Amino acid sequence: MGLKSKDLLTLHALSVEEIIEILDTAKSFKEVGQRPIKKVPALRGKTVVNLFFEPSTRTRTSFELAAKRLSADVVNFTASASSLVKGECLLDTVSNIEAMNVHTIIMRHSCSGAVGLVAKNSKASVINAGDGTHAHPTQGLLDLYTIREYKKSFTDLIVTLVGDITHSRVARSNIRGLLKLGAKVRIVGPATLIPKSFAKLGVEVYYRLEEAIAGADVINILRIQLERQDGHCFPSAREYAHLYGVNARRLKLAKPDVLIMHPGPMNRGIEISPRVADGPNAVILDQVTNGVAVRMAVLYLLSGGESDENSD
Ligand code: CP
Repeated sequence: MGLKSKDLLTLHALSVEEIIEILDTAKSFKEVGQRPIKKVPALRGKTVVNLFFEPSTRTRTSFELAAKRLSADVVNFTASASSLVKGECLLDTVSNIEAMNVHTIIMRHSCSGAVGLVAKNSKASVINAGDGTHAHPTQGLLDLYTIREYKKSFTDLIVTLVGDITHSRVARSNIRGLLKLGAKVRIVGPATLIPKSFAKLGVEVYYRLEEAIAGADVINILRIQLERQDGHCFPSAREYAHLYGVNARRLKLAKPDVLIMHPGPMNRGIEISPRVADGPNAVILDQVTNGVAVRMAVLYLLSGGESDENSD
């Protein structure tokens, strides 16, 4: 039981068996969140540090809740209030945190590869909570969990990822995980937001939204990441919404029981209409609920799947 690596950096590095083990473990932890006392002793005595260098609502909060529900001690590190502002470098900062006998570091950073660098130089388990445009493995896992909860099997499921593929670590993690589990993946967006190399990953590339969502079982709508763009990817938000916004009229082209997903935060009225975001097909808040269970599973399995209590 447990995962082969001490770290979780990408979905690419996980075997199909490891992904399934995480999803199955998350299923058993989901019930903990419905109890009056939402706590199990699995990580009692372990210390988890949330090291976020980029803003986050869902990932940071759900990792903190996940660790607390497993009875770990949790420290939230705020980069802007740390000695990084005095010039301390990233690896020195991490070494000092690690010297306090930390078991797990959860890290988000704007640079692709920064989390991998820390993992390579750290004895602690390092979990990637999103690095640049590279990977967001726990988002990929919670998306897989949510799809499996509703659709049961991934075989030949048509999953369409819509929008800003270029800047999306969520898209990369979704593509890796979905293809491993047997889904058919379509990506769609303006040519300026779809890297040419993606066709080699085994996805179908579309430039017209209507064609990409025709017959889809799942539509995962990505946020337009204005903070990572140079402002020249499309003429205006209004034009983007006109061509690529998922609205109720376009939704009719997909299967009637299509799942509407979004990793958040949403730009309502741009990539998704409020009617779709709040409509009966949306499972966007289920994704958030499932994120806690999936992160509990990852923390638990990376610790070897054993509590101090059980190993006595
Ligand atoms: N999905 C996601 O990563 O959301 P946050 O940026 O709020 O963590």
